[in-house]
Amino acid sequence: MDRSKQGNASPEDHELELTLPNLLFTKTVRELYAKIVNEWDFLRKSACQTAAARALWKHVIHDPLAHVLAGETYLINLHEKIKKDRHNNAREISGVILAVRTLWFDSKIEAVVDSLGGAAQVVLLGAGMDLRAYRLSCLKESDVFEVDFPEVLQVKAALLEETLESTEHLWLMEKSLTRVAADIRENDWVEKLQTSGFVPEKNTVWILEGIIYYLSNSQAMQVLKIVGEKCTLTHSSLSRFHEQSINNALKCYFPFLQ
Ligand SMILES: C[S@@+](CC[C@H](N)C(=O)[O-])C[C@H]1O[C@@H](n2cnc3c(N)ncnc32)[C@H](O)[C@@H]1O
Repeated sequence: MDRSKQGNASPEDHELELTLPNLLFTKTVRELYAKIVNEWDFLRKSACQTAAARALWKHVIHDPLAHVLAGETYLINLHEKIKKDRHNNAREISGVILAVRTLWFDSKIEAVVDSLGGAAQVVLLGAGMDLRAYRLSCLKESDVFEVDFPEVLQVKAALLEETLESTEHLWLMEKSLTRVAADIRENDWVEKLQTSGFVPEKNTVWILEGIIYYLSNSQAMQVLKIVGEKCTLTHSSLSRFHEQSINNALKCYFPFLQ
């Protein structure tokens, strides 16, 4: 049934329409996606799935390049799931929780950086296709470090480079952005971070968004131990968002879900 013809289409139906930007179909971008689809494992691919959620829930998350970083396959897959969820009147629509999670982290980062006077080191462990360095103006005096597997960081940089050539709407918000290729299950990731310019003595905001559950319990404990022990001025370690926060954010942004 075409609800728009009935004159009662809900705004969210319209806002979740799938529009694929032309940029997705350039030769370079197509080749980069082929690499993601054919060569990456599920861990690395999860970066694109998260970006797809930010792209499709664009009416609550302002991440204008999320489409490009998510890629055609993940956008179409998630869009299909959302349509199915809507059709089945599902209690939770696919991707919504990722959008809420991103909003929650955005607000916490803003509050913490602000409490530090605006200048901090911000380390994103498992940064994936996160574009906070380009999205959040609160980071303008901060040094941002994105840690992820080398393949993820390389493809992300290549996609952004391609985007830069064809859009004027991309600029860095923060003081500096450094990408650090490392596997945080290994013992040398802090060393790699330091070699890249990270200073343990400086105030640091650690972001572990959507990564802890990809680690075993002991690996997760080890990562948190390193963050706690080696970084003496760690101001805030944000590893997950709490039930209460989810509920509050859901009520605030998605009243139709209640
Ligand atoms: C679900 S994505 C989340 C990405 C990003 N934080 C976000 O919220 O959009 C998980 C990311 O963690 C990265 N990752 C998973 N295990 C990792 C590890 N052992 N070391 C470094 N990065 C890892 C993946 O490559 C992926 O980019």
